[in-house]
Amino acid sequence: MSTGESEDLAVVTRGLTKRFGKLVAVDHLDLAVRRGELYGFLGPNGAGKSTTLRMLCGILEPTEGEGHVLGIDIRTDPERVKSAIGYMSQRFSLYDDLTVDENLTFYARVYMVPRAERAARIARMVRLADLGGRERQLSGQLSGGYRQRLALACALVHAPALIFLDEPTAGVDPVSRRTFWALIRRLADEGTTILVTTHYMDEAELCDSLGFIYQGRLIAHGSPERIKGETFRRPVVELDVHDVRAATEVLSDWAAVEEVVRVGRLLRVILVPDAPGADGVRAWLTGRSITVRAARDVEPSVEDLFVSFVDTERKDRVREQLRALSGAVGGTGTGEPEGASAPSVAKPAPAPPQAK
Ligand SMILES: Nc1ncnc2c1ncn2[C@@H]1O[C@H](COP(=O)(O)OP(=O)(O)O)[C@@H](O)[C@H]1O
Ligand SMILES: [Mg+2]
Repeated sequence: MSTGESEDLAVVTRGLTKRFGKLVAVDHLDLAVRRGELYGFLGPNGAGKSTTLRMLCGILEPTEGEGHVLGIDIRTDPERVKSAIGYMSQRFSLYDDLTVDENLTFYARVYMVPRAERAARIARMVRLADLGGRERQLSGQLSGGYRQRLALACALVHAPALIFLDEPTAGVDPVSRRTFWALIRRLADEGTTILVTTHYMDEAELCDSLGFIYQGRLIAHGSPERIKGETFRRPVVELDVHDVRAATEVLSDWAAVEEVVRVGRLLRVILVPDAPGADGVRAWLTGRSITVRAARDVEPSVEDLFVSFVDTERKDRVREQLRALSGAVGGTGTGEPEGASAPSVAKPAPAPPQAK
């Protein structure tokens, strides 16, 4: 790669691959993360997100391919990578029997923050993570949201230019999730490059760029707007009909329909690229004696985008996987993440045998 390119990019990989025996966990991944951006790495469980992050952090050796992080070669210089970046692993690696202050001090030492700067640095992190007043509390006694912010503070204590966050909001309540995202959005706006994995579709909307990974492969990437506008191009119609079952059947017979998904009382219809939107759907249904209470064009959700990039025969499964994750991990069962689709099971109709 040219030097110019690696200067603009905080992360760049070519054909990055990790095999565990016969299993290909990460399959020839070409990633490019610009400096200063908030990059969302999305995919269902087992897609290869954590394995990718661990390679990028210098913890896990790639089987094949290459990668540079802040211009450092992850194959030849993993130790330098480790000290240059911040990493918050999927199981926030905090020491439960240490206090907030002691955890921060521990990480400040590990990352070799000069002794003279340590106290000031730690005080800044306490402020940033809104942990004031809890410095002497054992981290094991903190609630989920505080633990999560402490883990972030530990990953940031040496002021890295780039941080990797692996599902930082999994298992955290919706209010803490929002606070956390406001915090990392601010960090990115102030210049820190952030690569964050998530399967919450509402969080994805807040990213500058998205990479969709499925079965170890990058199946789509770009800004949310670009993916919606250029790559997706499918009208999405929200429908309120009296007879949901009959409407689903009639719509599934129409070649212009790619997917019909039930969301609560409503139907969400994903049409093929450049098909007519709400008016067309209304006309089609009315012409087949289905009463339409309301039909309106809506923005595609990130979930719609993701599912559209997967093979037709896998669509149903992927949508269910993504929903199950968003619904189940979101909170205590009743608290649904705002903006996300209802956690009720999607009942997609078989997609027409339409060539894409
Ligand atoms: N250390 C390992 N040994 C063997 N298989 C692994 C190991 N780590 C991950 N895997 C497998 O690699 C695939 C990708 O896992 P992972 O990167 O953890 O996915 P994600 O973080 O997207 O859920 C999965 O099939 C997982 O079981
Ligand atoms: Mg993972």
